[in-house]
Amino acid sequence: MRILFLTHSFNSLTQRLYTELSAHGHQVSIEFDINDAVAEQAVELFRPDLIVAPYLRRAIPESIWSKHVCLIVHPGIVGDRGPSALDWAIQEGEAEWGVTVLQAEAEMDAGPVWATASFPMRRGRKASLYRNEATEAAAQALLAAVKKFLAGGKPTPLAESRGRGRLRPLMRQADRAIEWQRDSSATVLRKIDAADGFPGVADQLFGEPCHLFDAWPEADSAKVSRGGTPPGAVIGRRETALLRATADGAVWIGHVKRKDGIKLPATIAFAEQAAILPELPLDGCWTADHATWQDIRYEEAAIGENAVGFLHFEFYNGAMGTPQCNRLRAAFEWAKSRPTRVLVLMGGADFWSNGIHLNLIEQAEGDNCGPADESWTNINAIDDLAEAILRCDDKVTVAALRGNAGAGGCFLARAADQVWVRDGVMLNPHYKNMGNLYGSEFWSYLLPPRVGAEGAAAIMQHRLPMTAQESVKAGFYDACLAGEPAAFLADVARRAAELATAADFAARLATKRSRRAADEAAKPLSAWRAEELAHMRRNFYGFDPSYHVARWHFVRKSPASWTPRHLARHRDLGWKIPA
Ligand code: COA
Repeated sequence: MRILFLTHSFNSLTQRLYTELSAHGHQVSIEFDINDAVAEQAVELFRPDLIVAPYLRRAIPESIWSKHVCLIVHPGIVGDRGPSALDWAIQEGEAEWGVTVLQAEAEMDAGPVWATASFPMRRGRKASLYRNEATEAAAQALLAAVKKFLAGGKPTPLAESRGRGRLRPLMRQADRAIEWQRDSSATVLRKIDAADGFPGVADQLFGEPCHLFDAWPEADSAKVSRGGTPPGAVIGRRETALLRATADGAVWIGHVKRKDGIKLPATIAFAEQAAILPELPLDGCWTADHATWQDIRYEEAAIGENAVGFLHFEFYNGAMGTPQCNRLRAAFEWAKSRPTRVLVLMGGADFWSNGIHLNLIEQAEGDNCGPADESWTNINAIDDLAEAILRCDDKVTVAALRGNAGAGGCFLARAADQVWVRDGVMLNPHYKNMGNLYGSEFWSYLLPPRVGAEGAAAIMQHRLPMTAQESVKAGFYDACLAGEPAAFLADVARRAAELATAADFAARLATKRSRRAADEAAKPLSAWRAEELAHMRRNFYGFDPSYHVARWHFVRKSPASWTPRHLARHRDLGWKIPA
């Protein structure tokens, strides 16, 4: 079938549905929801058999839904209606939630039901539930709906669907407000989770209005006793986060958006105020084992006489600014000194890495440290990390991607000897969407041997998402493991243990060393890096401002004013209206 996606943006859920339907042999084209006339034109050009709205923020015009079957992917259970589905589900502590595929009609979210899929809820941010459980359920429900549609099936009217959902209004800031004098830590966490990554909870810090994001629990009773600090007051800082007293303890606030500002790490958004707060370092450095704010964490598993190290890095949105890269490199060097045979780079639950930190770059200011300079410092910091991984010659390194990766993050992972990826992970191994950025992280050294020169050029030019399975099929990554997160972690632990105890471990390490030595002799890493960085210097400091313009729009989430041509196939020059 020809399937047209009408969507607000090509977000990760839309990408997942796009790749699922394409893999089932459907021809999918995409039009961003700019206005009714543009959507009507797309329908006219593409003549779709079916229209799917994976992520729409407003209604499909009647001129379209009255003539075509339009399937809406709604992140709520059957009967749930309204624009804040997941927000209410989290805030009201639902034990189970779901995704429903319904047909567009005059009344929003009230059309007949084609399919639904449910999932158990957990404590987590809205964006995390959306990217994981809701995305899985959406893929399942949409495939079922498309199958039913192809078989000539009919949807069930909402009134007969016996769902327990109901119409809920848009969640307003008044519904989200934190009452610091009364709210427990669990309530504060739930309220911030329900608003993360958008719109955040409107609040105040240091007497200034702001929105709060990225809350973490704190279980250390000594810190929670907080020396008489009243609820709502800030107790201290750790790296980029602030610890704030609640009615019965304290929570960490990782990210903040100040009035008219962009979302930033809390201690950077309130740099002056944070500078005079006490630093509350992590006990046990990277190995603390209680719930607290800890973006880098290390653990070890002994397997007989051998051991495997696991280095976790939970950076918000997978963005790796200069400080994150430098701290992770220090942690990597430390982990390297441990008596282990295998070191697994675990990344975070939602993202492994999305490359350099575009928000930190955007806000950089001062003499000799504007966005161009910070871009340069950041790309060098991430290259230093990639180089440390590439030069590690006394262990086998593994990148284990439980969460998505984009741009430089995909190639940083490839710097490890093995890359194992969870089924369902979405990859975007290309840079050009960010204002034609050339990219670094040694991609020009790492990618062509895996996929061939032509394959590398195609991946970079096409700028399309890649599924975990496709990445292995293409030879880019090494193994696609279980899709369910707990099963993936178990698979990673088992495979890492097998690597560490393999009879031929010494021979493998020797092969790795000699391959690296041969590569270095043919062309040193420093030369690859210098070539890539020469292009990046032009992107950052050259006459063409595309990267700065693209970054400006990206961090401010400017609405799209047109659909990129590589997504809107119906707008290709050679596109012919099907007979
Ligand atoms: N720096 C800062 N923030 C980033 C980021 C980066 N490199 N990559 C993603 N984010 C943020 C987004 O702004 C968004 O923020 P929000 O919490 O305010 O909503 C959040 O991460 C999720 O991103 P989103 O685009 O909604 O997620 P997605 O899963 O739909 O798409 C990508 C993932 C990777 C395709 C997309 O985020 C992207 O293109 N990122 C930029 C990658 C890049 O160009 N990096 C620089 C070159 S190395």
